[in-house]
Formats: sequence, C-alpha cells, structure tokens
Amino acid sequence: MEIIIQKNSQQAADVGARIIRGLIAAKPDAVIGLATGSTPVSMYQRLIEMDLDWSQVTTFNLDEYIGLPKEHPQTYHSFMWENLFNHINIDPAKVHIPDGNAEDIPAHCSAYEKAIADAGGIDLQVLGIGSDGHIGFNEPTSSLASRTRIKTLTERTVQDNARFFSSAEEVPRHVITMGIGTIMEARTNLLLAFGDNKADAVAGMVEGPITANNPATVLQMHPSVKVCLDEAAAMKLERADYYRWVYEGKPEWQRDR
Ligand code: F6R
Repeated sequence: MEIIIQKNSQQAADVGARIIRGLIAAKPDAVIGLATGSTPVSMYQRLIEMDLDWSQVTTFNLDEYIGLPKEHPQTYHSFMWENLFNHINIDPAKVHIPDGNAEDIPAHCSAYEKAIADAGGIDLQVLGIGSDGHIGFNEPTSSLASRTRIKTLTERTVQDNARFFSSAEEVPRHVITMGIGTIMEARTNLLLAFGDNKADAVAGMVEGPITANNPATVLQMHPSVKVCLDEAAAMKLERADYYRWVYEGKPEWQRDR
C-alpha cells in the first residue's frame, strides 16, 4: 500500500485527481471504477476542472441503493450525473451503475460482473471507506471473496448516511454492491479517506490484521493500492512518519502514477 498523507482533504483529492489524469493520458480508453458519498466529491470537482477527454473511458460504479426510484436525488445514479458525468464528455453508453430497481437482482448482479469482464476488467477503482471499514457496501463480516450481490447495511452505515436524507428511516436498508473479490481484481485501487471519523478504520486497514471485521484490511493483499488521506484520517497511523518520508522521497516523475 502506498500511503499518501496530505495537509488537508483538498490536497489529498488533488493527488487522486492527478493519478486519474495520468491513467487517462496513458490509456484513453481506461476502465475506471467509481465511488459515491462525500469523500470523492472534491476529487470529481478537480477532474471536471482538468477538462480531460473522457470520450473513450468506461466507468463502473461500486454500488446503488435498492428500491429508490432512479431519479430520486439520493440514488447513486443521480449523484454521479450531478457530481461528475453532466460536466465531462463521457459517452452515456459507457457508464455503468447497478440498477437498484432491477426485477431480477441476482441476474442483474451476474450481468454486472460479466460487463466488467467484457470491458477488460477495471484499470483503477476509486474507493471510499466506511467508518466501520466497509469498501463498496461490503459491510463487516462480508466474504473477502464476494462478488456483486445484494447486501444489508449495518445500523452504523444507515446512521452515517442519514445526513443525505431527511431521516434515518428513509435510508434504504438494502443495496447492490460490487463484492470484495470484484474490487480485488481491479488493477489498481485508489482509496480516499478524510476526517477523524475514518481514522480507526484507516489505521486498521493499513496496520491491523486482515479481518472480515474491517473489510478494507483485505487491500493489504492487493499489489497496487494508493491511499490518499488528510491529516485527520491519518492520525491513528503508527507509521505515519515513514509513509510521509517515502512519499516525499519519491522522484517527481513517479509521483502521480
Ligand atoms: C460509496 C461507497 C461507500 C462509501 C463509504 C464512505 O459508493 O461505496 O463505501 O465510500 O460509505 O462514504 P463517505 O465518503 O460519504 O464517508
């Protein structure tokens, strides 16, 4: 894991945006996995400002709530169009977001996995992390080999996400999420985490034992993971000085790769 600690979340988001810019420059038809939630918004804003050519890029989103009408403002479909897709030249036919209203959800999940494979696999997957260590919506005790499927949110995630709804009762309990096995097949994972409420999950992910109790810890087994943190999310890392020393010593040409 490469741990990149920046003074604030905007600087950490800028690092993430530059990594994606580098990927699209090197591979204009890259396949990019995307996340929603508060964390990636500033990185998406930066990517919009960079005015990149997304015309050949294919995207796959991590997850979607089940049962909200597609045009509901809190679906991840609405989120992605509002925060990124409406502002870049992406081909709508190349955008993939799980359909939380699919009639046959297991069949839809299998088709989603097949679409990822048919696209050649994911070059870079953007991830946030839940305060309980979830990636995608793979909540604690999820199978570390899981594939795209239906999951039930924990009470903690429902409470964490209630800020987007008028009350916790309105937060859907069920979601479709890429599995941990799916995420582990991405060629690179780029995880962003900001704020002190992520500090425990981040410390566990980077320095703790691998356990389904903190699903993000499985990323220790992945050969290419970049973790962009602000100081608050990094504050419980015991080896923070080492990570800073490594990043500061990187040659300039290697920085955004
Ligand atoms: C979102 C997703 C989730 C979020 C996580 C953190 O697509 O897969 O894992 O990344 O819940 O959410 P925020 O960024 O709102 O703290």
